[in-house]
Formats: sequence, structure tokens, C-alpha cells
Amino acid sequence: MKKNALILGIESSCDETAAAILEESDEGLPKLLSNIVSSQTEIHKKFGGVVPELAARSHLDKIDFIVNKAILESGKKLKDIDAISVTAGPGLIVCLSVGLNFGKALAMTLKKPFIAVNHLEGHALSPKIITELKYPYLLLLISGGHSQYLAVKNFGKYKRLGTTIDDALGEAFDKTAKLLGIKFPGGYLIEKLAKKGNKDRFFLPKPIINKGGCNLSFAGLKTAVLKISKTLKNKQDKYDLAASFQKTIEEILIKKTKIAFNEFKKINTKSNNIFVIAGGVAANNKIRENLERLSLEENFKPIFPPRNLCGDNAAMIAMAGLERYKLKKFNKLDYPAKPRWPLDKKATFLKGAGVKL
Ligand SMILES: Nc1ncnc2c1ncn2[C@@H]1O[C@H](COP(=O)(O)OP(=O)(O)OP(=O)(O)O)[C@@H](O)[C@H]1O
Ligand SMILES: [Mg+2]
Repeated sequence: MKKNALILGIESSCDETAAAILEESDEGLPKLLSNIVSSQTEIHKKFGGVVPELAARSHLDKIDFIVNKAILESGKKLKDIDAISVTAGPGLIVCLSVGLNFGKALAMTLKKPFIAVNHLEGHALSPKIITELKYPYLLLLISGGHSQYLAVKNFGKYKRLGTTIDDALGEAFDKTAKLLGIKFPGGYLIEKLAKKGNKDRFFLPKPIINKGGCNLSFAGLKTAVLKISKTLKNKQDKYDLAASFQKTIEEILIKKTKIAFNEFKKINTKSNNIFVIAGGVAANNKIRENLERLSLEENFKPIFPPRNLCGDNAAMIAMAGLERYKLKKFNKLDYPAKPRWPLDKKATFLKGAGVKL
């Protein structure tokens, strides 16, 4: 009898040390046998952001334990694993190196294939762990380091339709949280505070809303939040600013997603339009509700990963690994860590002053 592939996923690109075991199934959907995520929030909180050196040290301390825990919880043995897939980029090079070297050593010892995974491809495929996902689809990737609309034409074939020209959306949430006095990483608390506030109290700008296609920009919005944050007097003022920020983001995403839908329809001429929203910010309830409603109105099928698979995890790395394993796309053990690794290699770099849209 053919054995179903068993993949170990390892993730250490930023401040989460994670490992997961995923098994291919006969029925189509893979089975997630374990998914361990250890976050370093407590370590970085007092610095207001991720400190690379401390993050790398913590990965080194934990990686062995986390991988062992994932294997133990899966009910499988180390020798049952068919391939080791590891995030090789993009991310902090000192952090990536920890997971990458650990995975390479394991692959060499076990004499099993090693698969270098693009972290962003992991996000792109994250819904596939729980639901069927057919190509092509439109992807909105909204995370701590990226904000992009991509046409995913096939496995590994990406065309970028739009990107942020400055800050990523997760970054904008985190910076706004910091200005409201919430400790890092406070992005996810904005929507909680927003529920108590008046969303129409403060006017915030929507940069490049009427130009630049479905490219995005959040830097001007952040500056406006900074100015207003200096005038806040009480808790209600903070709630109102959080609500105004959340509302502005929703409006930006609705407008830009409509443009992305039209761009995608030029690529996908069939009527089966699929829209995947992935990355840490995709856990935001109001963003989910808004984009779900818009999708249904515009004849797109919205697909989200479950909330626990929106942020960084190794299940999505194992998922991307499984897809590569099926295609026998293995890598050599000298594969480098890549701090920058865009999904669409042909897309022009669109960041910094003087960007022409
Ligand atoms: N409910 C929420 N609402 C808004 N933002 C959220 C929510 N939950 C998490 N985030 C944001 O998601 C981001 C983390 O997402 P993720 O882990 O995918 O990013 P990353 O791995 O740091 O970046 P990248 O994937 O681009 O390398 C943080 O900026 C966090 O504030
Ligand atoms: Mg991520």
C-alpha cells in the first residue's frame, strides 16, 4: 500500500518558532497532525519591536523542543517523516538561519529531501490546509511585512497586481497601537478598542486612493494618526481614534479590492473567481466581514484561512512543502537564507521616495 506523504514544516523567519506535521490524504485535503507555535512577544514587548539578535537566540533555545513537540503530538515517529520543509525567506537573516540550519541537519541525518519554502507562499497556500483551493485565484496578502494583491495563476506562478509603496498594513496597525499606548505587538487590539469608539470622530487620509491602481499606501495615514494621538485627552478619545483608523482601513481595502477584482478578471476570463485573503491582518473580523460582503456582491468566492493560521505558523510551511514534495521540487543543502524573496520576481520594486505610480 502506498504510504501518504508526511511533511515536517519549520518556521523561524521572525519572532515565532514553529513546527508542524502535515499528512497527505487520499481524500484530497491534507491532515494537520500537529501545529506548535511559540511566540516571543514577551521578549520583544519592552523594546517596542522585534530585536533580531534576541529573536535568533530565542529560536536557538527553542527549536529543538518545538520540533520534538510537533513530532510527539502528531503521534508519528521521526523516521516516518518523508521531507523537511523550512522557511528560507523572506525574513530576518539571523532568525531564518536557525530554522534553516536545523532543518538541513535533520534532512541530512535522516537522508530525506530538504525543501526551502518561501514564507509568503506559505501564507498564500494557508487556506489549502482546510479547504479545496483551485487555481487561478486572486490573493490579498496582508501581514506584518507585506501588503500585496497577486494573481496566483498556478502553483508557484504569481503576478503582482498591486503592492504597498511604503508601510505594510500590519505595520500600520502595530504603529497605531503604539501611538495609542498599547504595547507591541498591539495591532490585533485595535479592533477591540474600535468597538467602543465613534468611527466618524476623526478624519484620516486615504493615500493614493484615486490613483496607482490597486497599489496601497499607509505612511500618510500613520502620520495623521501620530498628529491626532498628541491631542488625545481621555480613553474615549483613544477608542474614537482606533475606530476611525479601523474604518479608514476598511474603506481603503474595499476601494482597492474592487480595482484588484477588475485587474484579476482580465487574467481569469472564466467565471469562477476566487479571492483568498491571508496573512496576520486577515484575522481582523471587520476586514473579513467587509471583504466577504464585497466578494459576494462582485461574484467572487471569498476564502480565508482559519484565524489561527493567519499569523506565522509552520502548518502553512508544511503545506507549501507538501505541494513541492508532490512535484519533487527538492533543494540542495547549500540553499541560502533569503532576507528578500518576492513571489513575483518580475515585479518592479515600488518603495521609497519618488515612486512613480
Ligand atoms: N486582528 C488583527 N487586526 C489587525 N492586524 C492584526 C490582527 N491580528 C494580527 N494582526 C497583525 O498581523 C501582523 C502579523 O502577521 P504575520 O505574522 O503574517 O506577519 P509577519 O510574518 O511578521 O510578516 P510577513 O508575513 O510579511 O513576513 C502584525 O502586524 C499584527 O499586528
Ligand atoms: Mg508572516
